[in-house]
Amino acid sequence: MIPRVKTTAAASWLCLMSFALQAAPPLPNEPIRPVPRVMDGDPARIALGRQLFFDRRLSRDGTIACADCHLPRYGGTDLRVPSRGVGGAQGTIKAPTVFNARFNIAQFWDGRAETLEKQLDGPIHNPVEMASSWPRIIRLLKGDSRFRQAFLAAYPQGLSEAALKDALASFERSLTTPDSPFDRWLCGDVDALGAQAKRGYRLFKSYGCIACHQGVNLGGNLYQRMGVFGDYFKDRGGPLTPADLGRFNVTKDPADRFYFKVPSLRMVALEKHFFHDGSASSRDRAIQVMAHYQLGHEIPAGERRAIAAFLRSLLGHHPLLERE
Ligand code: HEC
Ligand code: HEC
Repeated sequence: MIPRVKTTAAASWLCLMSFALQAAPPLPNEPIRPVPRVMDGDPARIALGRQLFFDRRLSRDGTIACADCHLPRYGGTDLRVPSRGVGGAQGTIKAPTVFNARFNIAQFWDGRAETLEKQLDGPIHNPVEMASSWPRIIRLLKGDSRFRQAFLAAYPQGLSEAALKDALASFERSLTTPDSPFDRWLCGDVDALGAQAKRGYRLFKSYGCIACHQGVNLGGNLYQRMGVFGDYFKDRGGPLTPADLGRFNVTKDPADRFYFKVPSLRMVALEKHFFHDGSASSRDRAIQVMAHYQLGHEIPAGERRAIAAFLRSLLGHHPLLERE
């Protein structure tokens, strides 16, 4: 068993807040950190960013919003792999979750954007995503007097590229999912986690998944090769796409071929497709593939079920998820 000391309500509260407070006292000595209950950001700006996230006017032909590829119901990912943009144009890679993205060291599978603000130029300009431009979006939104007024109240400088990016990024920073059963257990609520999920966490650590999936996001903080113990891409078959090259596309260092930002596992309970190419369509399959290619193990079905139960316990709360 994993010993866990039941803490007082006050200590548990501090633990769930501690990331934000930069204070440590009751933080357990575990490689996973709770998603902090941070409430930063200007509420008016967050509300505007939220409106923009669901606004199809951000795409060239008015058909696609950010939320059409990052659906809250599927944990902020897309049901279609690869995603489709304006006019049905097909991309080459799975949409990762937007939830808890603020805790990643960089954005995109290959980490090519350092910040959420810089990430935004990607989808807005990408011809297979929204195929638009900031001047075009600003022109459109200026014609909407209600939006313009609301925007002016939060951003006295008015509609500008920087202000629009700030609103969207403020909203994205508010997309955190605290208070998952696992985090509550981590912080001393011994009854928050079932026996199967506890067993799964033990296996997750003992098999070595934890070496790559750790920290607040169980991922998002390092780049790792897809296929450490086998040639994943050869076995997968099909042509190699530029997206398969991963981090190499940024660094041009041949040693970075097939390296990806380790994805967060916080939302897997709601996701339907796994890996950058969406090649696995069940959690069980994803665990099997990871065990084989990343660890050189075959994990028995019963243990995979326990690991899946642990992964499900990582799902926390956000109003957008409750709404679905
Ligand atoms: C056509 C579908 C589509 C649309 C529209 C779209 N995205 Fe994405 N998003 C993707 C895909 C695909 C990726 C991964 C691309 C890559 O890594 O090369 C991605 C990546 C991201 C990431 C990086 C997450 C991470 O962990 O690396 C963020 C953040 C994000 N999108 C936010 C947005 C926002 C905000 C908008 C609206 C302005 C938006 N997206 C519009 C498909 C889409
Ligand atoms: C050597 C590092 C490493 C180890 C060990 C590892 N992973 Fe991964 N994991 C990755 C990388 C890199 C990806 C992204 C691969 C890709 O998309 O092609 C990934 C992707 C995943 C995904 C898909 C997430 C998504 O949103 O698509 C799941 C689920 C997962 N890992 C679970 C596990 C489990 C369970 C274990 C242990 C059995 C494990 N991983 C071990 C590096 C690792």
